[in-house]
Amino acid sequence: MLHLHPSLLPKETLFTDALHHLKDNESDLPSDSEYSSSASDSGFYSSSPPTLQPSDHGDMSTMSEASAEPSPSNMKVLDIRSKTVDSMADSTHLARVVAQTLSTRDTVFPASSARFDAEQNGKRPTKEDGAMTPIQDVLVRSIPTLVLYDDNGLDIFNDITHVDEYYITNAEMQIFKDKSSEIAHTHVGNNGVLIELGVGSMRKTRYLLDAIVSQNKSVTYYALDLSAQSLTQSLQPLALQFPSIKFVGLLGTYDDSLLYIKEHLTRDENSTRTLLWLGTSIGNTTREEAAEFLARVKDCAMQEGDVLLCGIDRRNNASVVKAAYDDPKGVTRAFILNGLRHVEHIFGGERDELFPLSKFEYVSLYNAELGRHEAYYRSLEQQRVEVDVDNTSHVFEFEEGELIFIEYSIKYDGKDIKQLMDQSGLRWAKEWADQTERYSLHCFAK
Ligand SMILES: C[S@@+](CC[C@H](N)C(=O)[O-])C[C@H]1O[C@@H](n2cnc3c(N)ncnc32)[C@H](O)[C@@H]1O
Repeated sequence: MLHLHPSLLPKETLFTDALHHLKDNESDLPSDSEYSSSASDSGFYSSSPPTLQPSDHGDMSTMSEASAEPSPSNMKVLDIRSKTVDSMADSTHLARVVAQTLSTRDTVFPASSARFDAEQNGKRPTKEDGAMTPIQDVLVRSIPTLVLYDDNGLDIFNDITHVDEYYITNAEMQIFKDKSSEIAHTHVGNNGVLIELGVGSMRKTRYLLDAIVSQNKSVTYYALDLSAQSLTQSLQPLALQFPSIKFVGLLGTYDDSLLYIKEHLTRDENSTRTLLWLGTSIGNTTREEAAEFLARVKDCAMQEGDVLLCGIDRRNNASVVKAAYDDPKGVTRAFILNGLRHVEHIFGGERDELFPLSKFEYVSLYNAELGRHEAYYRSLEQQRVEVDVDNTSHVFEFEEGELIFIEYSIKYDGKDIKQLMDQSGLRWAKEWADQTERYSLHCFAK
């Protein structure tokens, strides 16, 4: 049975005009009528995720049949994918974007990275016309990092968070275990709102929710991610465990969420917002993009007194970082290669039809000079891939050895954080470090 990622279905298949039907406010969930079991008229994804056959596209009855388990009444999931600006969480648009990014070489592969690739992997990329000189920057193709997070990718990412070498999760988990009480006391207002971006499995958030409830505070928790299935699965146990908290899953991208917050979240006077961006997700954008995004978060989603709690990895020892992103069991490798499977899927290809995994490898390298881990695919042979998007054919000719960029994991030392604050206009307020001092949860204020 094929498990279809909700973003692979036409939007109308899952939800219709959720935003027009729902008038959210921070303290109230939509009325009972909006909790109808039919996703088609409520924009509300009220139960366990559907498992659909490809032939079920557009067939709402299958969706309803799959919605067998009732959802806790303090929880809902909304489709907030923008209808005015094409959302990257929409598979049709994503296919267009990937076709375009694979058609152009516009991502810099620095000379220093070529040196690190040679040192760490014993290889270096080629140019179409021959071997590359490692003292030169070259341009490579890229695929948007977001393709890594389909349902399967989210499952594998969850496995990564249990890998010993991936110190990041344990470090952040420990900070939340130790400091949630202080965070809830100082940074979460009663009747306030928590908004978490890119929630994943929410393993750490549980500690904060527990502390909030222990302090008899009432909050609404908005959880954003790219998969309705994953949101539903992760939110359900939390909603059952914390009945006094209102849970709202938001299906969409970071950009969609800023639009949604700006347009749909009204604000009670005196209520505060606490934003969370954990798992060093900020590292998946360039330093410039991170500063620009934080500036938009500040302008669209925060008022004076609100805070953003942002988990950020430090510039740690190179071998520690390298092991975290290239673990001996190959979990990260599987995660990255799944991204190619997802790309194949959004182009409508069968398994291994367009991007056979035997013809690509995962390239992990830590560029200590730039303070960033870089993940690429390397084409193992010369190959030609042809895809059709919007009835237009796109042909990609990959050279043997050619690199395709997929993900940065950028690290921040004190100087980098200061620059991030200067560029974003946010104010650094506080930092909690884990016991090994490899990782920090920063508190940024407006
Ligand atoms: C590095 S994982 C972190 C997950 C979780 N916060 C943690 O700490 O373990 C990044 C998360 O952000 C989500 N994500 C990635 N890009 C996104 C985007 N553009 N918009 C919304 N969510 C995104 C992914 O689906 C994933 O759950």
